Amino acid sequence: MYLSMQKNFRTFTVLAFIVTFTMFLFSFTLRDPSLYFFKYAIRKSDSFFSNGQCGCRECMTELDDDPWFTERFNLSVPPLMSRRNSLLTDDTYHWWQRLQGQKDPANFREVVEKLFQVIPDDDDLYKDAGPERCRTCAVVGNSGNLKGSRYGPLIDSSDVIIRMNMAPTSGFEEDVGSRTTHHVMYPESAIDLDNTTSLLLIPFKTLDLQWITSALTTGSINETYVPVRSRIKANKNRVLIYSPTFFKYVYDTWLERHGQYPSTGFLSLLFAVHICDKVNVYGFGADRYGNWHHYWQKNYHGGEFRKTGVHDADHEHNVTMLLADKHKINIFKGF
Ligand SMILES: *[C@@H]1O[C@H](CO)[C@@H](O)[C@H](O)[C@H]1NC(C)=O
Ligand SMILES: *[C@@H]1O[C@H](CO)[C@@H](O)[C@H](O)[C@H]1NC(C)=O
Ligand SMILES: *[C@@H]1O[C@H](CO)[C@@H](O)[C@H](O)[C@H]1NC(C)=O
Ligand SMILES: *[C@@H]1O[C@H](CO)[C@@H](O)[C@H](O)[C@H]1NC(C)=O
Repeated sequence: MYLSMQKNFRTFTVLAFIVTFTMFLFSFTLRDPSLYFFKYAIRKSDSFFSNGQCGCRECMTELDDDPWFTERFNLSVPPLMSRRNSLLTDDTYHWWQRLQGQKDPANFREVVEKLFQVIPDDDDLYKDAGPERCRTCAVVGNSGNLKGSRYGPLIDSSDVIIRMNMAPTSGFEEDVGSRTTHHVMYPESAIDLDNTTSLLLIPFKTLDLQWITSALTTGSINETYVPVRSRIKANKNRVLIYSPTFFKYVYDTWLERHGQYPSTGFLSLLFAVHICDKVNVYGFGADRYGNWHHYWQKNYHGGEFRKTGVHDADHEHNVTMLLADKHKINIFKGF
């Protein structure tokens, strides 16, 4: 009896010490965010001590955030277009219209109105950032450096899996995974999707918004500046539109207007940075021989998707590396 009480007392003392010490460290950290080591040690030891910005161990935003990042990161710019935010400023409209220089574009507001009669108009999607959320995202580029990587299971374990343009999964599951929650495309790069995937359209011109409306209904549009698919298999209820305002924000703020406009890969990456708590990046860049080809292509057509002319690949690469250095994204090396 006496012995067990003594034991209990000892246990209690030890527990009390641990609790006090932990709280001491914790309050210390709150008072002085510069005590990075303590904060880091605590956070690493238990996700319970995450900084409260999100539910993951590390979040996109931190209390003692990096100034380069905070100066740029703006959660008030909605990444997706809705009826409500579709009214563009003159500045944005003119910049956007010039991207591919479409002649005589149709009335933008009428086009948008027709579009949202076909696809959902959800203004609140992904705006649920907070201490409860831990959304992990995989942004899967199309680089040949995915070949032999065996990243498939890791990619498939993410909440959000973003692929782009022609990217197939069938036959490449081991290296690239099999799930796709978001497939980013534009009319000229469109492919069929399964029911569970969200088609995320990047519009470069008014015609692109007309195209998606048509491709999901009448199939009346069969060319833009090149012949395009007149119909597309995709779940209408999951179609999303990349906001031209967000597009311009990525160009102005993150690319500082380098190149003519950002690449699909960079636009997808920045989309993820704004809707996710943790961003893992796969399949960006060249393969180990310095070749730029797609993982589904057998031949090394050198320079294929790098030398597109309109994108500043070097600057995009620099910004991507900075995001990684600042622990905002995690780049999985190629093979
Ligand atoms: C963030 O974006 C909003 C909406 O476009 C804008 O009003 C605000 O000035 C921006 N904030 C910063 C710090 O740039
Ligand atoms: C796919 O979508 C179609 C049309 O909306 C629907 O009829 C079908 O049940 C869906 N299939 C699955 C597996 O969700
Ligand atoms: C598009 O459709 C029009 C009218 O049906 C047809 O004349 C034209 O050849 C088609 N263009 C392409 C690229 O298929
Ligand atoms: C990218 O970074 C390298 C190394 O810091 C630098 O030499 C180069 O000028 C940068 N390129 C751009 C486009 O900013």
